Amino acid sequence: MSRKMSTVVVDPLSFPRKLPEIAGALRKGLLVAFPTETVYGLGAGIFREEGLKRIFRVKGRPQDNPLIVHVADLDMACQLLQRIPRGFKELAARFWPGPLTLVTPRNSAVSDLVTAGLNTVAIRMPAHPLALALLREAGVPVAAPSANLSGSPSPTTAADVLDDLDGRIPYLIDGGPCQVGIESTVLDLSTSRPRILRPGAISSEALASVLGCHVAFARSGGERPASPGMKYRHYAPRTPLLIVKPRRMASVLAKKLETHGRVGLIAPEALRSPIATSFFSLGPGEAVDYARLLYAALREMDRRDLDLVLIPEVGGSPLAHALMNRLSRAAGHRL
Ligand code: TXA
Ligand code: MG
Repeated sequence: MSRKMSTVVVDPLSFPRKLPEIAGALRKGLLVAFPTETVYGLGAGIFREEGLKRIFRVKGRPQDNPLIVHVADLDMACQLLQRIPRGFKELAARFWPGPLTLVTPRNSAVSDLVTAGLNTVAIRMPAHPLALALLREAGVPVAAPSANLSGSPSPTTAADVLDDLDGRIPYLIDGGPCQVGIESTVLDLSTSRPRILRPGAISSEALASVLGCHVAFARSGGERPASPGMKYRHYAPRTPLLIVKPRRMASVLAKKLETHGRVGLIAPEALRSPIATSFFSLGPGEAVDYARLLYAALREMDRRDLDLVLIPEVGGSPLAHALMNRLSRAAGHRL
């Protein structure tokens, strides 16, 4: 664990004034938490090994889980590639900046610490204006996992980052709540057929329309984990979480209140219940609202001293599919 320091929180108003100092810190191997459109990232410039090591130490992240490299533009990305895979430039032109990470064959500019020794590197250009300004000013690619302690839900506000990392990192840029709310789609372009390693807001259909071929999801539990991160129990709240079919919610809630004591409910307004011990509203409950609020809801319910939290299953869209991927991990696959 790193020594205690005080974390400087930089708001959008003081950001322009502080930018040179923060960008310099990143280049030197100090850690900077910054907003992206998906979740907050914990960044370090990729050319300083101490910074990369700090990321793993501060998060408590397993060394064999590689990091995503964030870039300011396509040129910065291309400097890391051994060759440019088919479809790479077309996908970047269509979806960057945005919530799409591309896994590509890497060259020797990229440290083994970033890739966990793999011969590929995962790259994305985030869409948040403060993230882009930071990356441009730093002038170097920035490795950044989500800015949470390993195993807890990804942070989607600056307050969430502080809950996990206050006093352990020198800088946090507060860019407000994240618009998407779940992590980027990870697409592997390093093999002959592109495959989705982690579903996200950019759908398989949207990728297929650019690539001109079907884009499948990598099977999990195969010979070797396609995306090393997916083998860990991720996104986990402390309070047990149970995913429930919406039409069964009322009866399950009534039963669990008898058997479990304090039962919280995270749900769209339409499923609000006066008998739940505690309620967190997902608003209209469209998949976009659900994604934007999910991790904040899990963190908030953990503060309310509950014995069990119920959340309805979602379906009907690619984003809903990505949500169920995260939810079933958070629930330890209890359905
Ligand atoms: O939206 C996001 O992607 C956020 C923001 C901060 O950009 N980042 C994020 O990072 O979610 P992290 O570290 O929590 O997740 C990275 C995922 C892991 O599942 C990891 O195994 C996978 O990407 N990954 C990284 N490099 C890889 C590679 N070379 N091959 C396969 N998977 C890789
Ligand atoms: Mg993460």
